[in-house]
Amino acid sequence: MHIIFDQAELRYGDRVALKALTLSLSERRIGVIGLNGSGKTSFARLIAGLAKPTSGTVTLDGLDTVADEKAARAKTGFIFQNPGHQIILPIIREDVALGPKSRGLPAAEIDRVVDEALSRFGISDLAGRRPHELSGGELQLAALAAVCVNRPDVVIFDEPTNQLDLKNRARVKAAIDGLAEQAVVISHDLDLVENFGRVLVFHEGALAFDGAGQDAIARYREIAGC
Ligand SMILES: Nc1ncnc2c1ncn2[C@@H]1O[C@H](COP(=O)(O)OP(=O)(O)O)[C@@H](O)[C@H]1O
Ligand SMILES: [Mg+2]
Repeated sequence: MHIIFDQAELRYGDRVALKALTLSLSERRIGVIGLNGSGKTSFARLIAGLAKPTSGTVTLDGLDTVADEKAARAKTGFIFQNPGHQIILPIIREDVALGPKSRGLPAAEIDRVVDEALSRFGISDLAGRRPHELSGGELQLAALAAVCVNRPDVVIFDEPTNQLDLKNRARVKAAIDGLAEQAVVISHDLDLVENFGRVLVFHEGALAFDGAGQDAIARYREIAGC
């Protein structure tokens, strides 16, 4: 998918979260790194249509996230920093079925696509569980199944391995690496993005670097002074 920012800016009152940004993205893997408060989540929310640019535009394959809101939103899936917050139904299977149900698929088809999504991320055995019965990594995978069942063109991850132990981290990293869909990955876990061909470094609400993973990490280290 082709993501275009054209002078897109996001403000919260007087505060500029993301300064006017012009950028064109179409790589299969796009990393986003930078200090806390540098504008990473704001950038991601603009792509997903969860925030509207206060000026400028964001388009996805030519669809404007404001003027063509519904069609643009259908192209993206967003995995929140705390995926527990996006699983809203009491049982994992029901939550994954929510999207297909709202699209009006017949019951047998809902069962089929839900089974497929759960199995794709290796969590079929968790289908009957409640969210609080899942580990952090399992919650990420459940949120990913609930997003991917809707067939988005791009999946956006906001710090997916935060607070995960090594085992869960490896599971989530493998799921991201194996994802057929395009992915935008915000991460402080630099291993996740170091092999990406395109990694953006944000600093104080502006793009400070745009290039290959290892070079971006070097720039980020300079900014962080360590
Ligand atoms: N809902 C909000 N209201 C006011 N300010 C916000 C809001 N969300 C983010 N900001 C501010 O915008 C800036 C960028 O935030 P954010 O995009 O969340 O950064 P990051 O994800 O890189 O930590 C920060 O200064 C933050 O305090
Ligand atoms: Mg953030």
